[in-house]
Amino acid sequence: MKVGALHHVAIAVPRLEEALPFYRDILGLVAGEPHAIAEQGVRAVFVGTGPGRIELIEPTDPDSGVARFLAERGRQALHHVCYEVDDLDAALADLAQDGIPLIDAAPRPGLAGRVAFLHPKAAAGVLIELVELRART
Ligand code: CO
Repeated sequence: MKVGALHHVAIAVPRLEEALPFYRDILGLVAGEPHAIAEQGVRAVFVGTGPGRIELIEPTDPDSGVARFLAERGRQALHHVCYEVDDLDAALADLAQDGIPLIDAAPRPGLAGRVAFLHPKAAAGVLIELVELRART
């Protein structure tokens, strides 16, 4: 398997509304509309376009992984990097065959399409997300 372009870098933040003004008003990036992703216990918004976009993610569920991530660090922090793949099912099958530890054995709904996370121990502590885009953005 081979990943495509970097789709986004994600930053976990305690509150979207407090984090957004820096990126939108100071850096001048275009902010999308925040969306709740109930399955992950987060709200998320893309800021910027193309491979330079970032994703801000705010926990809405105190038991979510993002909430625990923020609690451990005590401030906002880089959370994951996301690569595009053409066929997420095939990518996950290839990774599993190679013995790569996965958080998601099957795709789940994400902000830009179907997504899956590799386990951070697969990349020395870096959390990697794969996305199969719903439509080119
Ligand atoms: Co993401």
